[in-house]
Amino acid sequence: MSSLEPLEELTAQIRSSPKYRHVCIEIIRNLGSRELQKTGSLKKAIKATRKKLHQIAGAYFLTRPKYEEWMRKLRDAKKTGCPETFRKVCIEIMKHHHSTNMRLKNIDEFYNALFSKLPPIRSIADVACGFHPLAIPWMRSSSTRYYAFDIYEDLMEFLKGFMSLAGVEGHAEARDIMQNPPQVKVNLAFILNTIPVLEQIEKGAGIRLLNTVKADYKVVSFPVKSLGGKDKGMRGYYESFFQRMPQKHWDFWKLETANELVYVIKSLK
Ligand SMILES: C[S@@+](CC[C@H](N)C(=O)[O-])C[C@H]1O[C@@H](n2cnc3c(N)ncnc32)[C@H](O)[C@@H]1O
Repeated sequence: MSSLEPLEELTAQIRSSPKYRHVCIEIIRNLGSRELQKTGSLKKAIKATRKKLHQIAGAYFLTRPKYEEWMRKLRDAKKTGCPETFRKVCIEIMKHHHSTNMRLKNIDEFYNALFSKLPPIRSIADVACGFHPLAIPWMRSSSTRYYAFDIYEDLMEFLKGFMSLAGVEGHAEARDIMQNPPQVKVNLAFILNTIPVLEQIEKGAGIRLLNTVKADYKVVSFPVKSLGGKDKGMRGYYESFFQRMPQKHWDFWKLETANELVYVIKSLK
């Protein structure tokens, strides 16, 4: 019989599995306490928390990350002094995460279309970033500070090393952005494919985050296909979801892309 409180026991058990060893405690406690309340059973709550973690995060990894090997490749590429070689390694790595992988086909067009419409960007926040900071070499910005947040501690360590190689002043922090959204004020915030994920934890949490992040411009995106690649009418669903949001202090435009529904929001406050 364990002497731990149920939530501590649940957190310890989840962190003992290789898949979730690097997930920050904050998000496990957030999900775990909801499941304990719902099910009233430790065993069921552990199972349900694992399932939720898979839905909101684990399912997006296409392979198990090899951060040490990837960092070696990035360092070698950097040493060549050839930006194209460095970018090629970034692309190789982005292929391993579903969300960045689906942007790769049109990566040049995506960031050209975005940054050509923006004023000079000097600070960026990337919330629930996944592997997206690996696209920094495509972002047209000067002397940028980049703040990256996700729930994986090992990913954040990797991104710190990456951002230093990419020549930006980088900050990467493992945290649950739902309970602890970033407070930093930036020129541009990426909230890519994140709102639907937070809405899976709690209805309204995605929109709350969107309103809390402090940025002159926010790039918000929604998936238009399921993780399995099926078209289930998601574009129409998220278009009307976005249109229904109260937009008193925004101006916005849409970026046309095949695989993602993307809005750029300009804050009018
Ligand atoms: C669909 S992926 C999007 C990744 C990235 N924004 C992109 O579009 O390339 C969702 C990401 O959200 C992260 N995530 C889920 N819930 C989170 C939370 N509460 N706090 C921080 N990150 C979270 C997951 O780990 C995963 O990397």
